[in-house]
Amino acid sequence: MNAPVNVDHEALARSLPLDKLDVSDPALFRDDVWMPYFRRLRQEDPVHHTAESLFGPHWSITKYNDIMKAELAHKTLSSDSSYGGITIRDRPADLRLPMFIAMDPPQHDEQRKAVQPIVAPGNLAKLEGVIRERVCRILDGLPRGETFNWVDHVSIELTVQMLATLFDFPFEDRRKLSYWSDRATAFPMPGGIIETEEQREEVFAECLAYFTNLWNERVNAEPRPDLVSMLAHAEATRNMTPREFLGNLILLIVGGNDTTRNSISGGVLFLDQNPGEFAKLRANPGLIETMVPEIIRYQTPLSHMRRTAVADTEIGGKLIRKGEKVVMWYISGNRDEEAIEEPDHFIIDRKRPRQHLSFGFGIHRCVGNRLAEMQLKILWEEILARFPRIEVVGEPQRIYSSFVHGITDLPVRIPAN
Ligand code: HEM
Repeated sequence: MNAPVNVDHEALARSLPLDKLDVSDPALFRDDVWMPYFRRLRQEDPVHHTAESLFGPHWSITKYNDIMKAELAHKTLSSDSSYGGITIRDRPADLRLPMFIAMDPPQHDEQRKAVQPIVAPGNLAKLEGVIRERVCRILDGLPRGETFNWVDHVSIELTVQMLATLFDFPFEDRRKLSYWSDRATAFPMPGGIIETEEQREEVFAECLAYFTNLWNERVNAEPRPDLVSMLAHAEATRNMTPREFLGNLILLIVGGNDTTRNSISGGVLFLDQNPGEFAKLRANPGLIETMVPEIIRYQTPLSHMRRTAVADTEIGGKLIRKGEKVVMWYISGNRDEEAIEEPDHFIIDRKRPRQHLSFGFGIHRCVGNRLAEMQLKILWEEILARFPRIEVVGEPQRIYSSFVHGITDLPVRIPAN
């Protein structure tokens, strides 16, 4: 679509011919102007075909109920990586990483089971204490009365510390996890954090070498409740090829990293933009329970997931043909006025706050959802216990991506007293 800068996006979204409307343009997300384009599609063409885009032809599913239907149709809408992957951008065949999010049953179900114990209630309860201690240490170390980037000081640091705990990863090397994660999902472009797919492969090789050492340490030891040990001992994963090991590592690193990170940043931004909601929260900290899922809905840290039709199928009255690419836009379903009341408003005391699509739905629904919520809950409890407010003092900078919906810079100031 290549919208020029300084345009009236509301007007442009209304006036563009439908066949020129391409919601996959990463600039729409970087510039935070995606909303009117999706609104138009939900109203006029909810299952929309785009013939030409940066990512080739694809279908966009934009309404809440149609997305649920697509998620449940996993027999005809496949996640299998051999069809090109689970995001809108096709991965070159020789560079595809096998991982269970990009598999169909039965292999998907077996491998998913291998890591499921990490989020069993007993394990979550054990993790809670460690996470709280780390949250407190991070918050207590923040500067007062000075501007700093919340994303780097808190969002990245906290998620990386949690991931290091889940993998039982050497703590001093924990920033390697965000380094690998950022490069696994980046859009290759000149001047970007990766410029080519070859550079991405170099980063993957480094990640695999590091984790292979951890695997070798753990495979002959007693099983332990960390993700590497779980993968090394479970029936479905202990004979994985190195490429499959890498794929599942990247899944777990990216799954737990970008998403939680951007919910942490989003929460600070939304409360700053909605002082009335912040006042409600101050008056009643018990609202953290319902605010956390609202932050995750409102941010929608992954804008979409993609499937490929393996048979002709119908969604929303449109015929999707075998071989076509289908993009389920969670970011739009979460703003569907027919499913969610006042969806464009951030409301921390919604009656059904978990009614959102940010974690997906069906057999691939996020494994880490409760873990992510727990982390945000602890963070906000400890923020309220310390700081009267966190002021956003500059424009947030957003990621150029139509997959990871996130913030790279969020300048904030915590008042000195
Ligand atoms: C899958 C979102 C946190 C691990 C997914 C999916 C989404 C998602 C959209 C795909 C769902 C689908 O295709 O239907 C999120 C969000 C998070 C979050 C918004 C935080 C706010 C986490 C955490 C972990 C995690 C903390 C744990 C390390 C996974 C895994 C899958 C997954 C392993 C693959 C599940 C499967 O294919 O069966 N997540 N996630 N996620 N997520 Fe998360």
